[in-house]
Amino acid sequence: MKLMTPQTPTRPIWEAQGDEKRREVRGMFSAIAPTYDRANAVMSFNFHHRWRKFAASKLDLQLGESVLDLCTGTGDFLPIHRTTVGEAGVVIGIDFCAPMLEKAVGKDSAATLTIGDACSIPLQDQSVDGVSVGWGIRNVPDIDRAHREINRVLKPGKRFVSVDCAEPRAALIRIATNVFRTPALGLLGKLVGSSDAYKYLSESTARFKSREELAASMRSAGFVDVHYKDLMFGNICVHWGTKP
Ligand SMILES: C[S@@+](CC[C@H](N)C(=O)[O-])C[C@H]1O[C@@H](n2cnc3c(N)ncnc32)[C@H](O)[C@@H]1O
Repeated sequence: MKLMTPQTPTRPIWEAQGDEKRREVRGMFSAIAPTYDRANAVMSFNFHHRWRKFAASKLDLQLGESVLDLCTGTGDFLPIHRTTVGEAGVVIGIDFCAPMLEKAVGKDSAATLTIGDACSIPLQDQSVDGVSVGWGIRNVPDIDRAHREINRVLKPGKRFVSVDCAEPRAALIRIATNVFRTPALGLLGKLVGSSDAYKYLSESTARFKSREELAASMRSAGFVDVHYKDLMFGNICVHWGTKP
């Protein structure tokens, strides 16, 4: 008789939850860090800079203020924030994936880059004048907790903005997006050498909270004046709110 070692059931990364999701997501971003910026440029037709500027404008930051870019990754929000807060301001980037953060080095040479988790932000209560998250919230295992943490570190009267992928609301655009997205992401996956990572993008977007659910999570974390706006025909959505 031949004894077989039982196989650990493996589930795709987009179905992982809790600490398993945290581990898998960190591993995936470690693997794609070297090609992330290139892939981002191709996938967004380089529009991501515009979307970031629009999102950053919702923070209403002033010269000399402090801003945290959470899930900062390769740090493309950092120079935008620096332009707004100036040399006297404080720009902080936090991410839990060292290889992504390494790519952020030099994007704003004065920024402070720190390893940290969005569900347990390594900053004091009421310590920053603004928080941005770009394409990060979708990857976090406990979004409600991350929203409460963001609220905790913000000073009263200050704002949080998050930009992420979304499912278009118009049926025709949704169909067109799906027709285009699957082969485009497949091609991109080949280009950067990880088809799973780019399958994760569409699968995690399809499983992501709806616009209204995200807004509700922000409100229950304590934000008021919560708004959202679609970009790119509803493939991208920006949410923002104020800590009262
Ligand atoms: C799609 S990338 C976005 C990077 C960057 N914000 C941008 O706009 O290009 C998502 C980033 O979120 C980070 N991330 C995911 N979950 C996180 C968590 N729980 N805590 C901290 N960072 C996290 C990943 O390591 C990755 O760098």
